[in-house]
Amino acid sequence: MTISAPTTVPTACVIGWPVKHSRSPIIHRHWLAELGLAGDYVRHPVEPENAAAFFAGFADGPFIGCNVTVPHKEVAFASVDQADAVASALGAVNTVWLENGKLVGSNTDAEGFIANLDQRAPGFDANPGPAIVLGAGGAARAVIWALKARGFAPIHVVNRTRDRAEAMAERFGSEIRPAGWDDLPRLLPQATLLVNTTSLGMEGQPPLVIDLGAARDDLFVTDIVYTPLETPLLSIARARGLKTVDGLGMLLHQAAPGFERWFGRRPTVTPELRALILADMGIVEAGNAA
Ligand code: ATR
Repeated sequence: MTISAPTTVPTACVIGWPVKHSRSPIIHRHWLAELGLAGDYVRHPVEPENAAAFFAGFADGPFIGCNVTVPHKEVAFASVDQADAVASALGAVNTVWLENGKLVGSNTDAEGFIANLDQRAPGFDANPGPAIVLGAGGAARAVIWALKARGFAPIHVVNRTRDRAEAMAERFGSEIRPAGWDDLPRLLPQATLLVNTTSLGMEGQPPLVIDLGAARDDLFVTDIVYTPLETPLLSIARARGLKTVDGLGMLLHQAAPGFERWFGRRPTVTPELRALILADMGIVEAGNAA
């Protein structure tokens, strides 16, 4: 296992495999500097076969807490001494801290997803109706939980592998309706919200191309993919005149609860933070609106 250089300030980390592309250090270091706090946040690569041992030794290790990214979120859930209600509902942990020597885990992906929409499209859930979630992987779990909490029903989970969509219905209940891609033309005309949680449309992946012609004029479209910032799905939706929100804010907002746990202050997702991450992606956004 790679051990980071010893530091003299309270240090949190993100563990994953690989983790070298994680932008979380930019976010947390920005907040530490903005709030004038002593602390640090580093990337910590942990191979899958070492993940359980990493958590088992966490209390004796150098870190005050960590974020957990792919592929370790389920191992983290199995490894913590205590998981909070959201993490238990999702069966996955992305944020870890110590309480009286015990390892506690939460999952802030659902909160991050919703906080992004609340910030950039306030009122998106004013009249929640049928929603369509594309994908049934780990990210979909958090999104489905969040949409259910905000009253969207039914939630149609469209996935290539039917079993995984059915597993979502088993986990979250009868408002969740498993479906296949062939069902989209039938489901789209009623939907009030559409979200992509698959990797389609991500840089290096095939594009996600959907005919939104039959969608309601008030369909709200979002994508948790944020590389590129405007995914093919969001372009198609904008061209159709639909309201859209990109996925970058989910990354920013999911980071806030962990920061507060570890460093004791609630940080804010500001236009400056968004611009910082966009600059790292080589993007200058017109108006720089967060
Ligand atoms: P994550 O944890 O990020 O959600 P994941 O668990 O690997 O990642 O899930 C990826 C999602 O993208 C799945 O819903 C996957 O569909 P399958 O369950 O059928 O694998 C979906 N996905 C990835 N590539 C796809 C493709 N080429 N066509 C359709 N769906 C795809």
